[in-house]
Amino acid sequence: MCGIVGYIGKKEAWPALIKGLERLEYRGYDSSGIALLEKGEFLIYKKKGRVAELSKFVKSRNNNALSGGVGIAHTRWATHGVPSDINAHPHLSNGGDIVIVHNGIIENYLSIKKILIGKGYKFVSDTDTEVLANLIEDIKKNTKVTIDEAVRLALLQVVGAYAILVLSKNEPGTMIVAKVGSPAVIGIGKGEYFIASDATPIVSHTKKVIYLEDGSMGIIKSNKRGGKLILKVKTIKNKILKNPYVHTLKTKIEELEKGGYPHFMLKEIFEQPESLRNTIRGRIIQNKGNMKFGGLEKFKKELKNLKQLTITGMGTARFTGLIGEYAFEELAGIPTKVEYSSEFAYRNTASPLHTGLIAISQSGETADTLNAVKKAKSEKILTLGIVNVIGSTIARVVDAGIYNHVGPETAVASTKASTSQALLVIMLALYFGIMRGLPRSKNQEIIKEIAKLPALAEKILKKADVIKKLAKKYKNYNNFFFLGRKYNAGTAMEGALKMKECSYIHAEGCNSAELKHGPISLIDKNFPSLVIAPTDSIYEKNKTHIEEIKARGGKVIALTSEGNSEMEKIADDVIYIPKTLEMLTPILAFIPMQLLAYYIAVERGNDVDKPRNLAKSVTVE
Ligand code: M6R
Repeated sequence: MCGIVGYIGKKEAWPALIKGLERLEYRGYDSSGIALLEKGEFLIYKKKGRVAELSKFVKSRNNNALSGGVGIAHTRWATHGVPSDINAHPHLSNGGDIVIVHNGIIENYLSIKKILIGKGYKFVSDTDTEVLANLIEDIKKNTKVTIDEAVRLALLQVVGAYAILVLSKNEPGTMIVAKVGSPAVIGIGKGEYFIASDATPIVSHTKKVIYLEDGSMGIIKSNKRGGKLILKVKTIKNKILKNPYVHTLKTKIEELEKGGYPHFMLKEIFEQPESLRNTIRGRIIQNKGNMKFGGLEKFKKELKNLKQLTITGMGTARFTGLIGEYAFEELAGIPTKVEYSSEFAYRNTASPLHTGLIAISQSGETADTLNAVKKAKSEKILTLGIVNVIGSTIARVVDAGIYNHVGPETAVASTKASTSQALLVIMLALYFGIMRGLPRSKNQEIIKEIAKLPALAEKILKKADVIKKLAKKYKNYNNFFFLGRKYNAGTAMEGALKMKECSYIHAEGCNSAELKHGPISLIDKNFPSLVIAPTDSIYEKNKTHIEEIKARGGKVIALTSEGNSEMEKIADDVIYIPKTLEMLTPILAFIPMQLLAYYIAVERGNDVDKPRNLAKSVTVE
């Protein structure tokens, strides 16, 4: 939620900042803004709407000649105050000395605001961020410390989550970044620094980055006016952190572009054969019927001793956990439950010894999931992560982890990360199963089928036009059921989520057996259902559920296995997926459901990559 970008160096800041905002727009897109420091004065531009609006506005005012070698910028997902020009960041302090951008929430901002109002400060926005700008100014004015020290002292008073960038007009050669809870990455260029919420705005400038740790700050200062810039990293409690680890980015620029597709979502859907291949690569040893997860090797003994598991995540990530729940029980015989991260963090889980937590998160920054991991760690629960974004907070906080390796996922609706998450959680269950004596013939069979998945995904994508036609037929319905059982109960939830977030059609994901316990009363000719009914162990039951819907006048799209022509007689429309093992059907079933949501959203004229009210990375609770 919200993206921040900063530049300090000898070049013009504007190009890096505006491009950086475009890259970070997935994090929030209701308003954006930019502040440049030029000849001792701030130039601040803010605009409600997309980054493109800001860009147009700035260009119209400056004839494309915006100068300033220091600047900060922000793209917003509103928390405090409606999206508006005024509430957009950056925020300026009353005296005009401090400008700040902020991703996160200052929980105690009201009490600080009250004190500042008592001192005569005035506020123009509804944001918590403006309060922080004035708190910093107040401290700086009263204690006569430098800007970095004023920021540090202010942060000692703040409760909440934040990644901030701060500039002072009176100390133009300094930029400060600090973080607790929200991410911040510092890119180290030649005589210049780039700061951002993730590495995507940085990668085209430099591959060398530092991921700032929670509770720390980076101070970039020139040793003399216009001199060499020096970065100092320390904790907010004032302990110098010598030689912070410098990572080398591997992301390629092409991965961040649409590559000829009309939307990132479609590109990412079509990348799935490759992303599944990358998820599998190096992890299955087909001839030996074995599995390998480098990141888990160190913990093999503890993993073997685990007596129960909790899988946690939010949204799509949690739904893939529901698939994993069945796999862990079937393959490894470990009692497993799935928990919303938001709830795990706040309930008395009373987890006994030998409990493990598997946190699933594409971004690795979801606040709820991060809190769940932190809570588990405080209870000495072994934490594992399935995370896509390399170097993200969850990836760094968990005891051991597995990366998806699917590359950057830009569209807000998760597609290639979700199939990879579903696959990895099953592969992890298999890994546990092998450790616990799963018969060799069984694991060999599963591994063989896993290896086929990329080619099967390709086969589904070749028939995308069939789904495109279906989208035209179903685009005007206002409601949809997505139904499935066992491994595909989670799949149904995911199908419904994809449909609602992209197309804005109300969709419910429901266990198909649950339907007759109440939800079936909603069925009529205007309420179609997509039933996931591959020819598996519960096919006959799902067939009955379809008959029940048809008997009540409901329309049915059946998603079934290739070769099952019987469905053509029962359902109104049929989507086929290639045959695979029951536990792997969700991975294939996700793909036509993604296509359906995508094409319906396009038909309805929605902004598919950035659906209304959403943000890709949910870094607030
Ligand atoms: O980054 P995460 O995987 O932790 O994100 C979790 C959810 O916010 C995410 O899956 C969300 O539901 C997506 N928009 C689904 O398409």
